[in-house]
Parts: sequence; structure tokens; C-alpha cells
Amino acid sequence: MEGFKKPFYRKARSSDLDFILHAERACFNSHDAFKSHQIRHFLENPFHSVITDIITLDGNSIGWACYFTRKNSNKIRLYTVCVLPNFSGKGFAKSYLQKRIASFEKYDAVLLEVRQSNERAIRLYEALGFTIQKKLPGYYPDGEDGVRMVKTL
Ligand SMILES: CC(C)(COP(=O)(O)OP(=O)(O)OC[C@H]1O[C@@H](n2cnc3c(N)ncnc32)[C@H](O)[C@@H]1OP(=O)(O)O)[C@@H](O)C(=O)NCCC(=O)NCCS
Repeated sequence: MEGFKKPFYRKARSSDLDFILHAERACFNSHDAFKSHQIRHFLENPFHSVITDIITLDGNSIGWACYFTRKNSNKIRLYTVCVLPNFSGKGFAKSYLQKRIASFEKYDAVLLEVRQSNERAIRLYEALGFTIQKKLPGYYPDGEDGVRMVKTL
């Protein structure tokens, strides 16, 4: 743990596209990483149903996260989160998610899906109070099973 160093977050802008692409390529395999047209779509967010955050440390971008909501829904879905490998394992994702989830006052629950093999992310979500709600057989395009996790707010 870095001790006193705490990450912050801000809304992502269209000028963050290159950073997000870089983070996706650094953190995910080529099948799972979002492509630039997908990221652009999230950033343009025409229906205000997508929340995109840049995670920062000392003013530098170290990761990003994306959430989906639906009008009149009391649930929010954490669609993706990543922290650059150079900064991982220092508690930054945990600290960011704790703060961000606490800001979702109008929702009753946060949902997410994660690959069954992503033990690191599952452990992180469990440490944040998420529990496995359901197994999702063959959920991913390569056939891997997923798990749906939920945290009641
Ligand atoms: C998953 C990810 C976001 C975690 O970010 P991070 O900043 O490294 O996570 P933290 O340092 O905040 O760790 C928080 C928890 O994760 C777990 N964790 C962290 N490093 C770990 C490691 N090397 N091995 C196993 N678990 C680990 C621990 O439970 C830790 O809790 P603790 O500090 O109470 O022990 C980051 O590793 C990442 O971007 N991975 C690739 C993308 C991804 O898989 N995203 C999630 C799926 S969408």
C-alpha cells in the first residue's frame, strides 16, 4: 500500500480517448480490450446512460472505469475498470471504487460481470462488499464462464 497516496477521479473527455485505448491495451488481452470506436461511443454518451471516469494519481491518468445505467433504473452496472499495470496492487482500484460507489446515492445496487478466471478482480470486488449472485455459463465470446456480482447500497 502506498499509504497517503490516494487516487481521484474525474469525468472522462473526448481528449482522453488515446489514454483509454492505451489503458485497455495494457490491461486486457486483444479480444477483451475495447476498440477506439467503442470507447468513442461511450465518451459521446448521447443518452447520458454511460458514466466514464478517468482515475488519476497526482494529476496523472492511471486508469479508467465505465458504468451503464438505464433511465428510471435503481441499479447501476460497472461495465469495466482498469488500473495500469505499473500502478496495480497498491490499493488504487479499491480506493477509487470505494469512493465512487459511495457517490451513487440514487441507486440501490451495483452489478457487474467478470470472468471466472479473473481471481484478482473477484477478490477486489469481494473486498468491496460484492457477492456472487449468479454463475453465467459460457458468458464470454471465447466460451469462458462469467460470474455476476452484486453489491447492495
Ligand atoms: C483488477 C484491477 C482493476 C485491480 O486494480 P488494483 O489497483 O491493482 O487493485 P488494488 O491494488 O486496489 O487491490 C485491491 C484488492 O485486489 C486484490 N489484489 C490486488 N492485487 C492482487 C494480486 N496481485 N493478486 C491477487 N489479488 C490482488 C486484493 O484483494 C486487494 O485487496 P487488499 O488490498 O485488501 O488485499 C487491475 O489489476 C486491472 O486493471 N486488471 C486488468 C483489468 C481487469 O481485469 N479489470 C477488471 C475486470 S473488468
